[in-house]
Amino acid sequence: MPQQTRRVLSWTGVLLPLYILSGAQAQNLSTSVSHAQFVTRCGSFASKASIPGTTIYFSQYVAAGTNLSLAENEPSCGITHWTVPVDICRLGMAVPSSNTSEISVEAWLPFNYTGRFLATTNRGLGGCKSILYNELDYATSLGFASVGMNTGYNSSTAAPMLNNENAIADYAYRSAHLGTVAGKEVTKVFYGAPSRKSYYLGCSSGGRQGFKEAQDFPEDFDGILAGSPALALTRVVSWGAYLSQAVGSPDSDTFITDDKWALIQEEVLRQCDKIDGAADGILENPDMCQFVPEVLLCDGARTTRCLTPKQAEAVRNIFSPVYGVDGKLLYPRMQPGINTKRVVPFYFNGLPSDLSEDWFRHVVYNDTTWDGRTFTLNDAAVALAQNPFNVETWNGNLSAFAARNGKLLSYHGLQDYVISPEISQLYYSHVSRTMNLTPSKLDNFYRLFMISGMDHCRDGDGAWAIGQDESSKARRRPNENALMALVRWVEEGVAPEVLRGTKLGQDGVTPEFWRAHCKWPKKNRYVGPGAPTNEGSWVCV
Ligand SMILES: *[C@@H]1O[C@H](CO)[C@@H](O)[C@H](O)[C@H]1NC(C)=O
Ligand SMILES: *[C@@H]1O[C@H](CO)[C@@H](O)[C@H](O)[C@H]1NC(C)=O
Ligand SMILES: *[C@@H]1O[C@H](CO)[C@@H](O)[C@H](O)[C@H]1NC(C)=O
Ligand SMILES: *[C@@H]1O[C@H](CO)[C@@H](O)[C@H](O)[C@H]1NC(C)=O
Ligand SMILES: *[C@@H]1O[C@H](CO)[C@@H](O)[C@H](O)[C@H]1NC(C)=O
Ligand SMILES: *[C@@H]1O[C@H](CO)[C@@H](O)[C@H](O)[C@H]1NC(C)=O
Ligand SMILES: *[C@@H]1O[C@H](CO)[C@@H](O)[C@H](O)[C@H]1NC(C)=O
Repeated sequence: MPQQTRRVLSWTGVLLPLYILSGAQAQNLSTSVSHAQFVTRCGSFASKASIPGTTIYFSQYVAAGTNLSLAENEPSCGITHWTVPVDICRLGMAVPSSNTSEISVEAWLPFNYTGRFLATTNRGLGGCKSILYNELDYATSLGFASVGMNTGYNSSTAAPMLNNENAIADYAYRSAHLGTVAGKEVTKVFYGAPSRKSYYLGCSSGGRQGFKEAQDFPEDFDGILAGSPALALTRVVSWGAYLSQAVGSPDSDTFITDDKWALIQEEVLRQCDKIDGAADGILENPDMCQFVPEVLLCDGARTTRCLTPKQAEAVRNIFSPVYGVDGKLLYPRMQPGINTKRVVPFYFNGLPSDLSEDWFRHVVYNDTTWDGRTFTLNDAAVALAQNPFNVETWNGNLSAFAARNGKLLSYHGLQDYVISPEISQLYYSHVSRTMNLTPSKLDNFYRLFMISGMDHCRDGDGAWAIGQDESSKARRRPNENALMALVRWVEEGVAPEVLRGTKLGQDGVTPEFWRAHCKWPKKNRYVGPGAPTNEGSWVCV
């Protein structure tokens, strides 16, 4: 790569001072740094930088386009290589979370730095996707100094949490916070000045951790983009056990075969697709769909492509809220309109839900033989009462975050088959009541967007690419990229009224159509003219 001079611009266009490290003492060398200096600084950073509480194992300059080997990544994750999008300095670090535990943190510090910091955590219960390389890739390609971290352990399951309070604490809240604090410090030392704004990006368990940060560490971020959040975590895992049991094993009379799921999906669309005004296979208002599965009962005339009463009951249970032993709502219903091809392998394949067994075995009962088929609502009550380190993440008081002028942008796919999108709506109303603020007041710091046709975090039948991950690299303008919309909200005070999504074709690149997703509690309504794929045919009401 030819010599180039890189000027690090702050948002006002003023040059930020950059420092070259000399031992623990930083010296202000110049107001711009050449590419060669960046490479040199990176190479010596691990040996020269001294950051209290953080061990830097390595620093490595990686040029754009390098096929990086991730030999040290947990093998069961299956991610062995990653092609790095821009020139970065890559750091491997560890941060202690107690005397006997630590968080692994990886930083990708781009040469083309915008002065913004971004942290991302992980998904699921295991550390499998601990360091989310796709999210580091996405954020660095947008110029953020980015850090990713594990949950204090590396694994494809929750097994390390067995009899291990430290691993549970790291999972529940500590890794996100400690990794962020360390990541900000390293960013400051590397570039010679603190980042001017800090952001969080995460989905699913990562979405939950975004809310946890807003609730408990309001000073960590200026802007949080939290998607499909696993809020009420013990309730989600209980719900999963309940769902799998509702359908049961292949030999039970409630089990539903793939062809019958296809029939059910067809019937859901027949009954509910037009509620939003357009029969386009995508439900904008699944919460208004009161599906009647009994329409599909086998009768004299119909003996195939139909449901037995037991199967119809199972379907009704799945699409109904679940009440706990105390008679109160345990978890909202699965929303009709999900893609049954995707949900079947997850909850309805005849086996107990993996996710639920994982949590009950390794956190609730410390019994690796616990069998999801024995689940009862009493188990849900035990898990909820335990709520270790407040992993529920259900504090509705965001006033400290709001007082710091923090902005929370949340989204949830209406075809989410892992976590009911209704949980995001329930949390929203919980915040509204806790803080005694109407939606128009919440708008000042917290906005929720329901994304029609989006599965869990990404993919789906609708315009699901909204800037939540690397699928949106080609569309970076704030009007079609949720992360950049958040940046504009934080830095310019211009808040998003809609999130414009793109439906990507089979190749994952070519746009097929767009739709502007409404800010909750508004809902999309088709008014025409033109095809439902024409985004101008929809209004938020
Ligand atoms: C570093 O250089 C900049 C620009 O010349 C100057 O404004 C700043 O005060 C210097 N900082 C230190 C710590 O010397
Ligand atoms: C990166 O290298 C690995 C191992 O040689 C290879 O399997 C993979 O296809 C490469 N990736 C790209 C994008 O070239
Ligand atoms: C680590 O151990 C020391 C000595 O036993 C104790 O004082 C300290 O509180 C411990 N720190 C943590 C984070 O547990
Ligand atoms: C740096 O970022 C600018 C603006 O985003 C872009 O035009 C340029 O190509 C980038 N340069 C490199 C080396 O990535
Ligand atoms: C997790 O993996 C990293 C390498 O990616 C390693 O440095 C760290 O020690 C591992 N953590 C644990 C708790 O085994
Ligand atoms: C399981 O282990 C965790 C962590 O040590 C502990 O908090 C919990 O009480 C244990 N559960 C039971 C049922 O013993
Ligand atoms: C919310 O939290 C703040 C502190 O951050 C506290 O002052 C306030 O009383 C709390 N409000 C409610 C309704 O609990």
